[in-house]
Amino acid sequence: MTPPRAAARRAGTIAGPDPAGSAGLTAVLDAVPFACAAFDRRTGALQAANARFQGDLGTLPGHAQRDALLATLHGDLTGEARGDEVRAPGSGRWYALHWRDLDVDDVPLALLTAVDISERIETLDSHKSQQEKLLFTSRMMSVGEMAATLAHELNQPLAAIVNYLNGSLRLVEQAGGPVQVERALTAARTQAEHAAAVIARVREFVRAREPRRDAQDLPLIVDTVLELLRLEAERQQLRIELALAPALPQVYADRVMVEQVLLNLVKNAIEAMREVPAAQRGLRIEARVNLDDEIEVRVCDRGPGLSQAQSEQLFSPFYTTKSDGLGIGLAICRSIIEYHEGRLFFEARDGGGSVFGFTLPTPDRRL
Ligand SMILES: Nc1ncnc2c1ncn2[C@@H]1O[C@H](COP(=O)(O)OP(=O)(O)OP(=O)(O)O)[C@@H](O)[C@H]1O
Ligand SMILES: [Mg+2]
Repeated sequence: MTPPRAAARRAGTIAGPDPAGSAGLTAVLDAVPFACAAFDRRTGALQAANARFQGDLGTLPGHAQRDALLATLHGDLTGEARGDEVRAPGSGRWYALHWRDLDVDDVPLALLTAVDISERIETLDSHKSQQEKLLFTSRMMSVGEMAATLAHELNQPLAAIVNYLNGSLRLVEQAGGPVQVERALTAARTQAEHAAAVIARVREFVRAREPRRDAQDLPLIVDTVLELLRLEAERQQLRIELALAPALPQVYADRVMVEQVLLNLVKNAIEAMREVPAAQRGLRIEARVNLDDEIEVRVCDRGPGLSQAQSEQLFSPFYTTKSDGLGIGLAICRSIIEYHEGRLFFEARDGGGSVFGFTLPTPDRRL
């Protein structure tokens, strides 16, 4: 990014509207190896600046006035700022700003040096993203290890449950009813088989570290999850409203993992409404294409919502307010959604309650 600076060097030093005997001052500023300028502390007007300042910051709107220049550098619209480290709009380079009061020939001046720290910031940013990646990997791995242990422990009893249920179903069929028992046993078997499928996928995932992603129909995923929760919803006299946008594109996802996320979110929503009077319990599942062309799924409840303090801890593993909760539902959801290059989010629902949502890419936008 040297061309503007070189041009500025050729152009030489600029002087402000009131030179204030600044010939000597400009000579001094020119000797400084950073962008450097002096402003009158009484009026804020630029008095003198070296060539580097002219090249780096001298073309910015308001550069001849201290406050206007700062507004440009710190402004929300054009510049980005991290404390005294600012990003110049246009060039996009980062500067560390230092101010020093200085009186020259009885003129009170504020001396600004702007040191170009772009390289340091770039290094920091790349370290940060490496750290984030590492953190993400370690989170995935600890969830993976935990899941592997659980999978190992649960596999046997689940297989036994399915066997017992099959046996019981046969007995009921032979005895010719009652039909309610048959239905309950079938529902229990569906649940157990789903649990087994989740566990099988988790084991596979831990082994291969590579879930199977392909194009999936979101409405089918929603159906599967609702089928698993139907009994619980009936028991709680809960209305579930579906608002899936028509002709929704497919999602690029591991089907069982997304089912797991949605199941966790809907379960949380149902649990959040345990204490709410039946007439007010309303659960709504929405899906639509968002402005980034991702599929956005939202689970909206009419529970008590979350305080600021609660919402900050929400995604930490083992944070729970339930006597029967493990506090890993949302942590797992987040790992899964991040794996899918999506976003898990929370917001307050209009009219009370919470919205938990996530985004997923469509097959054509996968990375
Ligand atoms: N829809 C919601 N409304 C209000 N609070 C919620 C909602 N969803 C989650 N929470 C809060 O976040 C906490 C963490 O949720 P998370 O799903 O991670 O764990 P859990 O539901 O407590 O246990 P489990 O591991 O069985 O899922 C909950 O205990 C609850 O306090
Ligand atoms: Mg939960």
